[in-house]
Amino acid sequence: MSDGSALSSGRKPGLVNRIRAATPVSRRQFDEVVAQVTQIRRSIDVIAQRENLFTKIENFLGTMEGGWCTAKKAHALASIIVALRPALVLEIGVWTGRSLIPMALACRENKFGKVIGIDPYKAVASVDGQNAESTGWWSRQQIHDDALKYFRGKVAEFDVEDYVELHVQPSGDVEPPRELGLLHVDGNHGPQALRDVERFAPRVHVGGFVVLDDIGWAGGAVSASVTSLLASGFVHVRTASTDGDDWAMYQRRSASV
Ligand SMILES: C[S@@+](CC[C@H](N)C(=O)[O-])C[C@H]1O[C@@H](n2cnc3c(N)ncnc32)[C@H](O)[C@@H]1O
Repeated sequence: MSDGSALSSGRKPGLVNRIRAATPVSRRQFDEVVAQVTQIRRSIDVIAQRENLFTKIENFLGTMEGGWCTAKKAHALASIIVALRPALVLEIGVWTGRSLIPMALACRENKFGKVIGIDPYKAVASVDGQNAESTGWWSRQQIHDDALKYFRGKVAEFDVEDYVELHVQPSGDVEPPRELGLLHVDGNHGPQALRDVERFAPRVHVGGFVVLDDIGWAGGAVSASVTSLLASGFVHVRTASTDGDDWAMYQRRSASV
């Protein structure tokens, strides 16, 4: 980059040379100042891009039909990814991608990492262990087929194919990866929820996060998974339980016991 473009974005050719002529500093000092200004401009660009990520997420959510993730939760998940730069993120319970795609957008922002999504898209898996109230809506296979198709369309539309790996399987059939930076548990909220936490949370590295959805879900499995996390090296970081949110965030502070 020339001196002129570094200081004036090329809008006023010759300005830098005029400043240099009028300023009693050595060429080396002047070059150092130009390098510092260039570095500051790069940092500002990075910050602007980060802000833009949250706008992109809100724009994505504005296009979505179905799903449950709020903007607050999507921003929280994306913030963990931008701050932690994890190699692997894993979500149990994808549906239309309302929570997964914001995480994939954050990986794309990092130009690093990917999100593994696990969802069988099977009514029989969704109703397993659920009470009668939940069973009615979830028992229709057609809505699962539609959700899978919709999710695949959104992955393409938002250009995150390189950051998403989908396993169309129940979580119990998937071998947990060796190390995870972020685990989002939002699959079957019956007894399977506790099994998911017991199998996948031990793979979250120290400093990594678990986000549990629907912590107030009837039946007790989700609250039992909170107890399991707290007994295995995790601490509570944050709960969101108003305006459509019902999730909590935990961080591993010590190795699994
Ligand atoms: C509440 S929805 C997920 C919502 C999504 N994360 C969001 O924010 O919009 C629950 C999902 O869990 C999936 N599911 C049900 N049983 C499952 C299992 N055994 N393993 C993984 N996913 C499961 C369902 O197909 C459904 O897509």
